[in-house]
Formats: sequence, C-alpha cells, structure tokens
Amino acid sequence: TIAPQTDFPVPANVFAETVTEVEHYTSSLFRFRVTRPASFRFRSGEFVMIGLPNAEKPVFRAYSIASPSWDEEIEFYSIKVAGGPLTGHLQKVNVGDTVLMRRKPTGTLVNDALLPGKRLWMFATGTGIAPFASIIRDPETYEKFDTLILCHTCREAGELTYGRNLVAALKADPLVGELAQNLTLYDTLTREDWPRTGRQTDLMASGKIFEDLGVPPINPADDRGMICGSMDMLRDTKAALEGFGLEEGANNRPATFVVEKAFVD
Ligand code: A2P
Repeated sequence: TIAPQTDFPVPANVFAETVTEVEHYTSSLFRFRVTRPASFRFRSGEFVMIGLPNAEKPVFRAYSIASPSWDEEIEFYSIKVAGGPLTGHLQKVNVGDTVLMRRKPTGTLVNDALLPGKRLWMFATGTGIAPFASIIRDPETYEKFDTLILCHTCREAGELTYGRNLVAALKADPLVGELAQNLTLYDTLTREDWPRTGRQTDLMASGKIFEDLGVPPINPADDRGMICGSMDMLRDTKAALEGFGLEEGANNRPATFVVEKAFVD
C-alpha cells in the first residue's frame, strides 16, 4: 500500500485514504475511488463524512458510498461546484492524493429499514443515484426482492452516463450479472430530448412509468421504495408514494419506503 501524504496532521477518528481512480463525466459530475481501510465496515446504501487534508480544520460533507459493502475500494460520485467549500477542491483530486473519511458510516437507505417485498423501487435525481450504485451491486438486495427498478432523472444526457455505465457493467459481470437480470434502469431527462422524458413524479402520476415497465401501479403489498434527491424531489416523491399507500420506515422501524437527502454543496 502507498503511504498517504498529508500536509496537515490527520484528525482523530478519521481515516486518510489514497485515491486510486478518478473519472469525470461532465463539467459538473465525477466519480473517484479510494483505498478501503481494513477496519471500515458499512451497509450498502450508507453515507460517510469525507474531507480533504488541505486545511487545519478540514471541511467534511456527507457522501453516500457508491460501492457495495463487499468491494475492496470505496467509490464516491460527486458534483463539482466552483468555489464549493469541499467540491471546489475535491474536483481536482488525482490518483495518489489523500482523502479523509470519518470512521462512522450511517444512513436510512438500507435493506434493513424496509420490510420484505416483491419489487424495490429506487428513485434518484442527479447524484442521488450514488447510494443505489451501492445497493444494486449488493447480492443481498436480490435475495430480498424479486425485481429492482432504478429510476434516475436528470436534466441532460451526460448526467445519465454514470448510471448507464454502471448498470451495463453489472449486467455483463460474470459474478453478479445473472442476478442483475432482475434490475431495470428507467432513466429520464427533463431538459433535453431522450427516449423517455419527464420527472419521475409526473410519470407516476400519469401512470406512464408503470405502463412502460409493464408492472402494476405501486401498492403496499408488493412494492418498496427508496428515495434520494434534492429536498423538493424528496418531498414530492414521498407524497407520491404515500398516495399509493406506502409508509416511511427507519432503521429501528422498518416499513415500506425510506428517504435520504442527496449531497448538495
Ligand atoms: P426539472 O428539470 O424539471 O427541474 P436539480 O438539478 O434541480 O436537482 O434537478 C435534477 C433533476 O431532478 C432534474 O431532471 C429535475 O427536473 C428533477 N427535479 C427537480 N425537482 C424535482 C421534484 N420536486 N420532483 C421530481 N423531480 C425533480
């Protein structure tokens, strides 16, 4: 392993990990991978606080872990905000650089917070796809649900590349590829032409999403939901699921859907 290089002392209770891979998708989106500390355990779908060793008091932000719990590395999917307290610097990381990671992962978008069901619906906008990148790569999810439906809505086509590449790679994977035949990616655009356009919330309200997928409208007996996006998206998607009779759950009180705010900065 490569010894991490830091300009400042690493704070207590923080891992200093080395960047192993960086991939940029658009002027505002990229993904990177870091080494995984041997003692770091998390459940697929959880988030962790990350920061950079470039200040006496590093800025930490909550990031969903996009890699599954069995992966040897940790993956993150991030926006880039010019001048953003963290992403302004984070977008410049290169292989070999150090990223700080707090030791304790947490989150509600986990299998344990949902009752068993037939279909798992994952609703994401923008970088809200990150926790689902973890969940769809975890064989446990396929044990718990017969069908996985990943809904991803973005403004422009380049923003769908991460999800598209991920699902294609998963389906081609010799180990999990067979399981992933039960996964469907339903991605839509709102500000560019695309085979499917419109917000997920509108497509649920019109029933088009169910027609397109050939499944019955969401119902509490069969369907489970996970939501990750902006505050407005969470509010509207939550209202839609409640309209179908689903109820919000938590780690200590599993129910039929769970919600988490996507990272914004
Ligand atoms: P739209 O282009 O119609 O606003 P943002 O970058 O603003 O978070 O948006 C990311 C994607 O989420 C866009 O496609 C956007 O659609 C969509 N979106 C924004 N707000 C909502 C909402 N309240 N419910 C559903 N989708 C939303």
